[in-house]
Amino acid sequence: MLTAVVAGLVFTSPAVGSILTAIRTVKQAGAVGTLLIVKNYTGDRLNFGLALEQAQTEGISVQMVIIGDDTAFATKKKAGRRGLCGTVLIHKMAGALAEAGVGLNEIVHRISAVLGAMGTLGISLSPCSVPGSRPTFQLADDELELGLGIHGEAGVHRMRMASADQIVNLMLDHMTNPSNASRVHLRPGSSVVLVVNNLGGLSYLELNIVAGSAVHCLESRGIHIARTFVGSFMTALEMAGVSLTLLLVDEELLTLLDSDTTAVAWPKPIRMSVTGHKRQRAVPKENPKEEGPDPARVPTSPHMRLVLECVCSKMLSLQEQLNELDRAAGDGDCGNTHAQAAIAIQNWLDARPLPERPYQLFSSLATLLLEKMGGSSGALYGLFLTAAAQSLRTDDDLAAWSLAVDAGINAMMLYGGAAPGDRTMLDSLCAAAKELKALKKPKANLMQVLDKAVQEAEAAAESTKNMEAAAGRASYISSARLEQPDPGAVAAAAILRAVLEGLQAKPE
Ligand SMILES: *[C@@H]1O[C@H](CO)[C@@H](O)[C@H](O)[C@H]1NC(C)=O
Ligand SMILES: *[C@@H]1O[C@H](CO)[C@@H](O)[C@H](O)[C@H]1NC(C)=O
Repeated sequence: MLTAVVAGLVFTSPAVGSILTAIRTVKQAGAVGTLLIVKNYTGDRLNFGLALEQAQTEGISVQMVIIGDDTAFATKKKAGRRGLCGTVLIHKMAGALAEAGVGLNEIVHRISAVLGAMGTLGISLSPCSVPGSRPTFQLADDELELGLGIHGEAGVHRMRMASADQIVNLMLDHMTNPSNASRVHLRPGSSVVLVVNNLGGLSYLELNIVAGSAVHCLESRGIHIARTFVGSFMTALEMAGVSLTLLLVDEELLTLLDSDTTAVAWPKPIRMSVTGHKRQRAVPKENPKEEGPDPARVPTSPHMRLVLECVCSKMLSLQEQLNELDRAAGDGDCGNTHAQAAIAIQNWLDARPLPERPYQLFSSLATLLLEKMGGSSGALYGLFLTAAAQSLRTDDDLAAWSLAVDAGINAMMLYGGAAPGDRTMLDSLCAAAKELKALKKPKANLMQVLDKAVQEAEAAAESTKNMEAAAGRASYISSARLEQPDPGAVAAAAILRAVLEGLQAKPE
């Protein structure tokens, strides 16, 4: 692609001397001509221009193209279009032309024709980190900056956080708006190359989400995406942002972009398309709770519903506390996993009447948690509920409930590999189960027994503080660093507490 690169200090144009040295070196290596590909910044224009003049007086054949692919500014009066990620496409095409033996003047001619057919726009969640100095601007957590430069220059527009689809749509509007002088002239049917460029601080996951949105948005506007390039082509040092570049292409330009190169960082282009198989999007219902109860769906077991609602709100209220405990012992997502389960249960409750029999309820909950909760907690609760449901199939009197809890615990131990004393949720559950055995006695008082069981579970959860982890999340951590109770045990005890509270509360 390129024969030489001249780098200045970070974010600074290189000195004329460095540029001249590069030109002379390339000449000595046998180049018949040299094309300087310069991004449109004042310092670069000056230094490269001066070097070019000097080289020409030395009899070297040198030409220059200035790349301004920025579409941030709507009017021409501003500092002008800056050179952004589109420059990399120029490197590739000019390099391929040179490799094919095309003469210098012809390359300049062909490249100049492409410049007007290209546009780039960036968006970021953060300023970039300039080594040794402060960020050039500040952004709040929920803010995005549109149209920024690659040297930490602030952008043209600040906006609130939105979904990737919404952001990409807004970027494309800005890049193609007919009232914006620097726009890319896109029409339905246009064929483009899309570059989704990491400004430095995004993960591949995030980058590809944006790429997916961009392909989707462009195709829904009737644009044909001939090639997509996704990667880190022109970064702004750790900036958590992305730029989109669009280049209108024909077959000839595509051949240049497709041609082989030894540049290791040049990726294989992707042919991405979503047309033909339309993306199915779950449209989130706005506030489903406000729709009011459906009179045809009067809950069959008001107590059970209340109990589940109590469990869900308890899990949601504990989300941060459980995450905090888990940060000390595991990966910090225990609260999120439980909150995710709570939301799934709430949606499920909103959508249908409860099953009539407890074993049906437990099986349904097991299926729901296995599908929606995730993590080992999801699998373990799923196991517990599945085994307990089996046990409740024939009988659901009080004694059967005690047996069901035992069956659930046994299933968890069998597949989870933990035992009481290992610093897991089993510690709370086993402590409760021991008390619940009292339900097998004739005339057992459910509320009294449950109350005692919850207290024991809470005490057991608290005492996991002093346990060495032998299974589960914390077993990877040195026990000296474990000073807090196990989040899984705390969550299980809290669920039991919520069950008790739900049973104590009067259904309306
Ligand atoms: C480069 O920027 C200058 C202003 O600094 C502007 O006048 C010029 O049109 C720009 N050139 C390109 C190629 O965009
Ligand atoms: C450029 O296009 C955007 C997006 O369509 C529009 O909102 C804006 O008013 C135009 N002009 C400027 C100054 O950005």
